[in-house]
Amino acid sequence: MDTHYKNILLEQPEAGIYCLTFNRPKQLNALSQETIQEFSSAVAVIESDQQVRVLLLTGAGDKAFVAGADISEFQGLSTLEARALALAGQDVLRRLERLNIPVIAVVNGFALGGGCEVALACDWIIASDNAKFGQPEINLGIMPGFGGSQRLMRRVNKSMALDLCMTGRMINADEAQRIGLTNQVYSFETLRDEAMKLAKTLSGKAPIAMKFIKQVMRDGQNMRLENACTLEAELFSLCFATTDQEEGVAAFLEKRKARFKGR
Ligand code: COA
Repeated sequence: MDTHYKNILLEQPEAGIYCLTFNRPKQLNALSQETIQEFSSAVAVIESDQQVRVLLLTGAGDKAFVAGADISEFQGLSTLEARALALAGQDVLRRLERLNIPVIAVVNGFALGGGCEVALACDWIIASDNAKFGQPEINLGIMPGFGGSQRLMRRVNKSMALDLCMTGRMINADEAQRIGLTNQVYSFETLRDEAMKLAKTLSGKAPIAMKFIKQVMRDGQNMRLENACTLEAELFSLCFATTDQEEGVAAFLEKRKARFKGR
């Protein structure tokens, strides 16, 4: 599979850790249609890699994570082309969200429109103190199209999702942390190191249990509590079919660090 792209970088800074960088700094990493296609191919690489444990997403440069869909491609876009664009964006973010591994958005500046929507499809959002989040589509006479209205409402709450989508205002990292959009905020200088620290911690955990935790929360959110708890019990019991469960318990009893293999 081709891993050479024009608009993104896909790197493995350490075994088991992938870092995907949106790489159009002059356009504040805006998501052109070509960038979305490359993003989709990169997600396919990660989907098919059995050794990957964690994925980090970030933006090139010191100004932006992603400043949204590429507005220069909006002029003259037909209704059908706009629909295809929304569906392409939604497809890649659905697949990102369904990866079996923890996915961390490392927000190093503007995360607006499609950029905020990318972050919302990640499990973790960590941000630098200069980060700015928003869904400013209303200012262009349009609305979020990559799932942002729905994921923002589910991640934060409906009133804040309405506020951000209807006013199009930007919020800073402090407010993002206060409303529960971000998990942590760090200084710009330390963000990347903190992201790697988190990635390393997560990459040492039991991969199958990790996948189940992600699955039960993602799928359980739209189920009745009773059914979601039944799913939890099923997945809990399946953990006991893994050698990682034997290793985890043995390591605790032998007072040593567990070495998980994903089996
Ligand atoms: N699509 C295409 N190009 C974009 C872009 C986007 N979403 N966001 C920024 N750019 C481009 C600008 O056009 C500019 O290009 P230029 O140097 O060729 O003129 C360059 O990136 C730098 O942006 P600029 O606006 O000069 O930076 P700024 O610091 O003054 O403002 C923002 C930064 C993010 C506030 C501003 O760029 C902005 O509002 N961007 C659009 C955000 C948006 O509406 N996103 C949702 C799209 S659906």
